[in-house]
Amino acid sequence: MGKPKVVLGVSGGIAAYKACELLRRLTESGHDVRVVPTESALHFVGAATWSALSGNPVSTEVWDSVHEVPHVRIGQAADVVIVAPATADMMAKAAHGLADDLLTNTLLTARCPVIFAPAMHTEMWEHPATQENVATLRRRGALVIEPAVGRLTGVDTGKGRFPDPVELFEVVRRVLARGDLGQDLAGRHVVVSAGGTREPLDPVRFLGNRSSGKQGYALARSAAARGARVTLVSANAALSEPAGVDVVPVGTAVQLREAVLKASADADAVVMAAAVADFRPGTYAAGKIKKKDGQEPAPIALVRNPDILAEIAGERPRPGQVVVGFAAETDDVLANGRAKLERKGCDLLVVNEVGERKTFGSEENEAVVLGADGSETPVPYGPKEALADTVWDLVTERLPRNS
Ligand code: CTP
Repeated sequence: MGKPKVVLGVSGGIAAYKACELLRRLTESGHDVRVVPTESALHFVGAATWSALSGNPVSTEVWDSVHEVPHVRIGQAADVVIVAPATADMMAKAAHGLADDLLTNTLLTARCPVIFAPAMHTEMWEHPATQENVATLRRRGALVIEPAVGRLTGVDTGKGRFPDPVELFEVVRRVLARGDLGQDLAGRHVVVSAGGTREPLDPVRFLGNRSSGKQGYALARSAAARGARVTLVSANAALSEPAGVDVVPVGTAVQLREAVLKASADADAVVMAAAVADFRPGTYAAGKIKKKDGQEPAPIALVRNPDILAEIAGERPRPGQVVVGFAAETDDVLANGRAKLERKGCDLLVVNEVGERKTFGSEENEAVVLGADGSETPVPYGPKEALADTVWDLVTERLPRNS
């Protein structure tokens, strides 16, 4: 089998320089990448860079190497096309089927999955013309990744930022592995909590736990790749933002509750993967707690934190909402899991057996997903991404039909 063929379309935005990193990752991991820039993209990064990094010829025009019929062949041969960055102008052309250069011709001839990674100023992204073009492209089956929120080209910040190239690479890798875009969560809003809460004792100390956030981030990444709008409530996770995901950073259990409840109001599914502290210190010292010579330390009095999972499962902010919990158990894993599922009132509970080197901080996971309907789905030891996909498969089966 030859190398997977990727077409990297680059339109004229400053984020073109970040696409070089995406290109490098693709070529280094064994993909054959054909870069197709627009004429204006070359104002930002020159053809020599694209050609040297890809090892392939680069052209913007249909008039070069006409005997090879490049305006048809490049699109036909591709296994996946990603346009990164995709400008407002490029998406307008793609939505209307214009074909005035090599990239737009390639988009019309490609029959493989097509991904757009838009990057532009907030006003351009929010303009009804752009939004309608994005909706058209999505309706036709393309994956248009929501831009990130953050610093834009000038001093301004807002929605429109190009996602982390490493995360875009992950999207391409996933699409190639599955062979399609698999948009079964399109039109859905899902909320995922991830990481571990930190309950402060004083300005420098906290009670925390060992959750890395990797499983929650894998869930968010997978839901976004399946077309969902994703809100990721992230407690103290030092991980890169998954492409197309709205990340809400929080610190404590109380903050996590507020953020999850707010996002859940219109959510189709809520997945509580975060390790939430059951207790927090009853008092917070505004100044650093100092040790005193000859004195034993004062005991720390704890108070209970709200149980967010039980609260959401009980209230179901949106009718038909599917609620998923996680449990880490060391003994009697299945019996404890069943009891917890009932106590919390959720639809699904992902039960992990924890022990040394298992689960915390690792890239792999092994679990059983218990259903309130009595079902039991074992997920063999493997990447956290595989467990994430199984969870979304089970959630999808339980979602009411999209109206
Ligand atoms: N959870 C929550 N709010 C809390 C505590 C936990 O929403 N205050 C959620 C977690 O996100 C996870 C599930 O509940 O989905 C874990 O259940 P939890 O009660 O934390 O399990 P344990 O603390 O392990 O319970 P026990 O000590 O009874 O085993």
